[in-house]
Amino acid sequence: MSQLFPEAVAPPVELAEAKGVVCIRPAGASDVESLSVYFTGLSTTSRNKRFMGARADLAVVAAECVAKAGHPDHFTLLAEFRQEGRHRIIGETHYAYDAAARHGEFAISVADAFQRMGLGLQMMNAMETRAIDLGHEMIAGETARTNAEMRGLARKAGYSDTGLGDWQSVHLAKRLSHPR
Ligand SMILES: CC(C)(COP(=O)(O)OP(=O)(O)OC[C@H]1O[C@@H](n2cnc3c(N)ncnc32)[C@H](O)[C@@H]1OP(=O)(O)O)[C@@H](O)C(=O)NCCC(=O)NCCS
Repeated sequence: MSQLFPEAVAPPVELAEAKGVVCIRPAGASDVESLSVYFTGLSTTSRNKRFMGARADLAVVAAECVAKAGHPDHFTLLAEFRQEGRHRIIGETHYAYDAAARHGEFAISVADAFQRMGLGLQMMNAMETRAIDLGHEMIAGETARTNAEMRGLARKAGYSDTGLGDWQSVHLAKRLSHPR
């Protein structure tokens, strides 16, 4: 993808306002601790939205995200901010294929200070490309009805409401288009 970022799954994004570059790459075993630090650093509001409720066991969640990444139908992508030789995680998306439902399911978050800079959409695009490579045809996700950010992001990424949600949550899905 790039000589500077050989592990990247999308072209690096330059964030002029933050004076750094963001690389989107798959998570590996060595990322558990920094992913746990990332989850801990999210605001309570963002964290509750990400997990659709409170989670205290963030180190366990981070370990699960990375452990499942070894499974062929599961992966976690990280957005890593690199600046002057330092790097830190500023976003993640977790994807898992549900063979019975025949669709992938995702969850996503972006660090509060980096929201509304286009990273959520970049990660969704990178996730979809990887799901297409795995031969999957549909992606679905669930979010709170009150989550305007996620609903706006999903709409922009081409997802629609399946009507399968309930009074609290919306179920969103998108059919993936495979290159012919
Ligand atoms: C949802 C989330 C991942 C969006 O990430 P992001 O990097 O801020 O999104 P982007 O900058 O790529 O925005 C893409 C589009 O999403 C929509 N959007 C993003 N933030 C929004 C907001 N606060 N209000 C309304 N729409 C919003 C807009 O349509 C936006 O396009 P625009 O900027 O051209 O108007 C981020 O807000 C987040 O981490 N929220 C907390 C965790 C969460 O809610 N996760 C979802 C549950 S799985």
